[in-house]
Amino acid sequence: MKFFVDTADVAEIRDLASTGLLDGVTTNPSLVAKSGRDFRSTIAEICEIVPGPVSAEVAALDAQGMIAEGRILAGIAKNVAVKVPLTWDGLKACRVLTGEGTMVNVTLCFSANQALLAAKAGATFVSPFIGRLDDIGLDGMHLIQEIKAIYDNYLDLETDILAASIRTVNHVKDAAIAGADVATVPPAILMALVKHPLTDKGLEQFMADWKKSGQKIT
Ligand code: E4P
Repeated sequence: MKFFVDTADVAEIRDLASTGLLDGVTTNPSLVAKSGRDFRSTIAEICEIVPGPVSAEVAALDAQGMIAEGRILAGIAKNVAVKVPLTWDGLKACRVLTGEGTMVNVTLCFSANQALLAAKAGATFVSPFIGRLDDIGLDGMHLIQEIKAIYDNYLDLETDILAASIRTVNHVKDAAIAGADVATVPPAILMALVKHPLTDKGLEQFMADWKKSGQKIT
């Protein structure tokens, strides 16, 4: 499974990239607004830090506008994945942009039928939003399972399932069990994946015993 980080905060991205475990980045208009920085220069900076796909979302709502904006975003760097919403216009724009060799991430996916359409439109990634479905009392992980089952039925569908709107460490684990290709994870959740109290306790014990042994490695 690939790990993308879901943020437009360049300092956080730089920090996480230094682990060598980061495969890409996703941003959205809300995350860009939160960063308070210029959109295009921020995407350019992120693309230099992380060689994998960096999602940058269009703001137009009509297909022609999305295509025009998508071309500008794709021109920033080779690893930009243009993000379009899961609407008919978004699907039309997806088809055109992928035809031009641009990676496209079709976002705001909340149903398996929407994901089927995104794949048929040639999307590089489809982003089902787990947490937002959980928020309204539905089962976000069930959507990942449904999409995985459908895509596995049709080998000509090559779209990667990018599990999004991840809110907990269990979302990451369950998305991996369900076979999602990618999880885009907020920085705090990504950092929390490493934590286990028995790891801390075990390390403390090992270090205490090592000190008692009086030995040195170097
Ligand atoms: C993914 O690309 C989205 O930007 C993100 O995962 C949305 O998450 P949220 O529902 O926590 O805002």
